[in-house]
Amino acid sequence: MNSIKRIAVLTGGGDAPGLNGVIRAIVKTAISRHQLEVYGFLDGFYGLITNKYIKLEKSNVSGILQRGGTILGTSNRDNPFRFPVKKNGETIYCDVSDDAIKNLENLNIDVLVIIGGDGSLNIAHELSQKGVKVIGVPKTIDNDLSATDVTFGFDTAVTTATEALDKLHTTAESHHRVMVLEVMGRYGGWIALYSGLAGGADVILIPEIAFDYTKIKEKIEARMAEGKLFSIIVVAEGAVEKEGQMVVAKMIEESTDPVRLGGIGQVVTERLAKLVGLETRVTVLGHLQRGGSPTATDRILSSRFGVMAANIAAKGPWGHMVALNGKDIINVPIVEGIKELKTVNPNGELVEAAKSVGISFGI
Ligand code: F6P
Repeated sequence: MNSIKRIAVLTGGGDAPGLNGVIRAIVKTAISRHQLEVYGFLDGFYGLITNKYIKLEKSNVSGILQRGGTILGTSNRDNPFRFPVKKNGETIYCDVSDDAIKNLENLNIDVLVIIGGDGSLNIAHELSQKGVKVIGVPKTIDNDLSATDVTFGFDTAVTTATEALDKLHTTAESHHRVMVLEVMGRYGGWIALYSGLAGGADVILIPEIAFDYTKIKEKIEARMAEGKLFSIIVVAEGAVEKEGQMVVAKMIEESTDPVRLGGIGQVVTERLAKLVGLETRVTVLGHLQRGGSPTATDRILSSRFGVMAANIAAKGPWGHMVALNGKDIINVPIVEGIKELKTVNPNGELVEAAKSVGISFGI
């Protein structure tokens, strides 16, 4: 006899292409295979804290597989363990997790499925410590979660960045310029490395390998000596100069990770303009990487994650998250999944392959 009758889903953190694919697969699998009722909390943990939800039927998820964003809305603020409340004109942070749990109890939710990145999965773990049956689904375009080989959204972001590089090539070549593309990825260089490889970049700068301007200059000049009067540089938002610091765009206090990186592309571009005898320009790809329709790869991965999430929501093990391991979808304890961020191995095969095809990492 299955004790699980009703589950709820929420999407937390930044949106990523494929979120709707996960929601769709959870709803379809939960209803058809496990005869469960499904609810969706709106706008991430904000909906859980303030009790804003909808009932999800198969009709709600029809036609959403190819849509970017999340039909449930999301937020990268609103941590129930550190919720901003205005008091006497000041913002103070309160633990409102008991209110959130009460909302789950009042609605008779047996299991809460949390689709999110490391911030949301940390909250999932804390809720599970307080006795809530939770299931995690890893999400981020940054691909920096160690529990899973790949996260959905990453392939779409890489595809968008690669298309941008293809387009920048034409202006670079025509005007004999150095074109710099700044991409997202926080503390991991995955989007920069993959798109740089796919887009034929000449230089890739990532947080895992501190760079040196003189080495970038040497690379550009070596290309000029070969008659190639342009260069393409991909710089991850978290890339750092040797003995330098990450460039922070702003701080968002209420966010689970308050640091917003950004600006290194401009810094690199201005510096190279002075160092090399070519015109330089910067393009910051920004949220275009998170937008639009998911690639086929992300639609498939998000569907597989959603199916597994519904299956383990129905029968356990709870407190686990789904993950891709090689070719298989598995589940691992959330606590394992959030232990460390997955970053690029500076001495790994991917970086070596990039170097072998002539890409400089500015070292
Ligand atoms: O984690 C996903 C991500 O897009 C990062 O790559 C980026 O640093 C950050 O979120 C941007 O956050 P926001 O949407 O709050 O500007």
